[in-house]
Amino acid sequence: MAKYKLLIRSARQVVQVTNTGARALYGADMQLVAVLESDVEGHSIVVGLDGKISDIGPDSEILDKYRDADFTTVINASGRCVMPGLVDAHTHPVWAGDRVHEFAMKLAGASYMEVHNAGGGIHFTVDHTRQATEEELLQSFCGRLRAMVRFGTTLVECKSGYGLDTDSELKMLRVIDKGRQSVSIDVSSTYCGAHAVPKGRTAAEATDDVIKRQLPAIQKLMTSGELRVDNIDVFCEKGVFDVTQSRDILLAGKAAGLQVNFHGDELHCLNSAEMGADIGALAISHLEEVSRDGIGAMSRSGTVAVILPTTAYILRLSPPPVRQMITEGVAVALGSDFNPNAYCLSMPMVMHLACVNLRMSMPEVLCAGTINAAAALGKSSSHGSIEVGKVANLLVLDAHRWEHLIYQFGCNDVIEHVIWHGDVVHSKSKPCTS
Ligand code: NIG
Ligand code: FE
Repeated sequence: MAKYKLLIRSARQVVQVTNTGARALYGADMQLVAVLESDVEGHSIVVGLDGKISDIGPDSEILDKYRDADFTTVINASGRCVMPGLVDAHTHPVWAGDRVHEFAMKLAGASYMEVHNAGGGIHFTVDHTRQATEEELLQSFCGRLRAMVRFGTTLVECKSGYGLDTDSELKMLRVIDKGRQSVSIDVSSTYCGAHAVPKGRTAAEATDDVIKRQLPAIQKLMTSGELRVDNIDVFCEKGVFDVTQSRDILLAGKAAGLQVNFHGDELHCLNSAEMGADIGALAISHLEEVSRDGIGAMSRSGTVAVILPTTAYILRLSPPPVRQMITEGVAVALGSDFNPNAYCLSMPMVMHLACVNLRMSMPEVLCAGTINAAAALGKSSSHGSIEVGKVANLLVLDAHRWEHLIYQFGCNDVIEHVIWHGDVVHSKSKPCTS
């Protein structure tokens, strides 16, 4: 008898997002979410023992074809909706220290850079993260990953960047690797040693340290198979790393085999987008202050824009020009930017903010939080949509239409099951613990 891991049967909607094998969706195509539904019957999904989707179709066809098959788990999704697991394309989840007091400072009128220059912000977190043990960091990191799973995230990008020296950055990257092995979530790991200029150093000295010491140490461990790192990131910003320093760091990372994925044009327009497009960046995050030319350059280079609605919301920044990006053919993705400044682990809340504050439609934010976010991590051939051959990272919603995930702001009750590689890793009735 043929064996399979999972059958989800009789779903009211199977929200594939795309069914064409597209690696990302652009422009008007972001409105055209592929959904299987019918008034006559439900739809089913079959997952093989390898955790990949092996078949999708109407109940009548699938239930007949797999009549004699043996499924480890069967979920009756009648009246419910199945959609891809969410992809969070930008987070800073490994750190120690509490910055809740900064929220009060910001509410009283301090800007992000005022807090940063007063020794708060990233520097505060760096001091605490350097002092924390690997085990302490791993405990809090795994707790955050589990919370993300409960909010429906099944693939997440995780940055280092609160170490800023070789030993502390390696400690953070090892924590990300161990978290990946301990929690049921896919992780894309990012080295962000150029997240801030360490106290007592110039940006030029820090650039040198990243290129000549930190990166070679990381590359050595990657080559020996002791560490997995996927991306390189820099905070390209006035008063942090300028465009030339950022470019040098990113190109050194690219030469070491890392995907280029960095913070640009957030608080000031430095033409980071133009620089990123020029060096073939896979993705650029933030872009609140991106120029018209920068948008055109990203469209031509196929660089994904990772938009972070929580940052603009918390810092009361002017929102990034998302409508213009979509019109000009830039693939727009979403991330939570979870960090001690923007403490949000919930992609459904991020998606809701993107609709209301950034004027995206619900189909657009669905693409941006699934297939396009996977594209920002170079993972959209295996993640981000419900298509045969892709990893079975799925959500079963306690709702008859997928839009409820976004509409029910801050109400996580709508997620019935989170499925990761074909295994149910969180259920409303049985919360995620591993
Ligand atoms: O993406 N902009 C730089 N990095 C983070 C903030 C990190 C922090 O404040 O600790 C961001 O918003
Ligand atoms: Fe960030």
